Amino acid sequence: MAQLWGGRFTKETDQLVYAFNASINFDKRLINEDIEGSIAHVTMLAKQSILTNDERDAIIKCLNEILADVNNGKLEITEKYEDIHSFVEANLIDRIGDTGKKLHTGRSRNDQVALDMRLYTRKQVKLTQELLKELLTTINSVMKANIDTYMPGFTHLQKAQPITLAHHFGAYFEMFKRDYLRLSDIYERMNYCPLGAGALAGTTYPLDREYTASLLDFKGATANSIDSVSDRDYLIEYLSALSMIMMHLSRFSEEIIIWNSNEYRFVEIDDTYSTGSSIMPQKKNPDIAELIRGKVGRVYGALTSLLTTMKGIPLAYNKDMQEDKEMSFDAFDTVNGCIKLFDGMMKTMKFNKEVMAKSAMCGFTNATDAADYLVKKGMPFRDAHSVIGRLVLYCIDVNKSIDELSIDELKEICPMFDEDVYNEISLETCVEKRLTKGSPSSQAMNEEISGNDIFLKSI
Ligand code: ARG
Repeated sequence: MAQLWGGRFTKETDQLVYAFNASINFDKRLINEDIEGSIAHVTMLAKQSILTNDERDAIIKCLNEILADVNNGKLEITEKYEDIHSFVEANLIDRIGDTGKKLHTGRSRNDQVALDMRLYTRKQVKLTQELLKELLTTINSVMKANIDTYMPGFTHLQKAQPITLAHHFGAYFEMFKRDYLRLSDIYERMNYCPLGAGALAGTTYPLDREYTASLLDFKGATANSIDSVSDRDYLIEYLSALSMIMMHLSRFSEEIIIWNSNEYRFVEIDDTYSTGSSIMPQKKNPDIAELIRGKVGRVYGALTSLLTTMKGIPLAYNKDMQEDKEMSFDAFDTVNGCIKLFDGMMKTMKFNKEVMAKSAMCGFTNATDAADYLVKKGMPFRDAHSVIGRLVLYCIDVNKSIDELSIDELKEICPMFDEDVYNEISLETCVEKRLTKGSPSSQAMNEEISGNDIFLKSI
């Protein structure tokens, strides 16, 4: 056991207590941030003449050596240390003696861990944004290639009206675009440096907190020292954004699973992104999409867990807050991994355009347009709705689609039908006549895609 706080104690910590209290097993992933923060701290201490330049240089040199030794395997982070902060400080003191003991001047582990976690989360937010940008680019290219790929649009998972694949994917572009922008907002809000808050009440040393903040590329120092050490809102915001991303990925995955099913066959997931069955030789399963859908629970779990952990904590730091790490790290890894895999699956997936168009052709997706046709001929919409309803019943009876009926059959149900109806209710017309902003026609779609291109260039 290597602890930083032995002085006040006359007995050794119980082994079980030590293990229960320790966080080294999971906070070791903060080593880069811990050392980055310590280097900024001593640089500021020397600028303020709290340390000499020689002391600063010796500490920084040694901190870099510790990091290098951990990275090349010469130095192992073991359970002998309570947490990553103790590990770094103890090794520093081992190597350079008394000078090393000066590192923690004007600092507490409370503001230190607040800084480490913020630095780490800040990098993760950027990583998620990079991955989302890649996915958005993929979705936009599918859109470009499928402006005239007709398919049924659904409500209640029942065929509703004809749309295009580009139009359908455009909906997901919007979702992930909002996710991207949400992360930018979160980044702005979290980009303040808590170091210098001390345990909770600042310090009596003349620290230059704004200088430390600028060394670490923050927008500034946090405003209140109590809030600095007890705030995990930024983490909750990020977990909430990650939950939303997972919800979007899960909806998309669910559709891919349905579209990839034997009944639909709208898409074919590539062999490299599918798995087989140990017993049924014919199977090619969409496991990746199912797993992404399945992993949503653990990300929502991380969000719920941290919200719950934080809700009863009096100001300022309490050890409960150590629980902010494990599930958050798991959520970061899970979401970033899922976006990457989903993107790979999209890039390799095949779209069965004929199957989609055929599906749009049957199932009466042009029934609304048939009613609109009668409205244009002078019939009130409610009456037209009822006429087409009867027409659909007749079609079901004779097992034909509306456009497969002869003009005589159509006229028998309503004499207002003319030869021009066939063109008016064709798949192409149904789509191309929808010209309003955000609709599936190629004109509206091209505008939407230009907007997407501008957005992708701006990020
Ligand atoms: N391992 C602790 C955490 O993650 C570091 C801060 C410890 N501070 C303290 N006062 N015990 O929160």
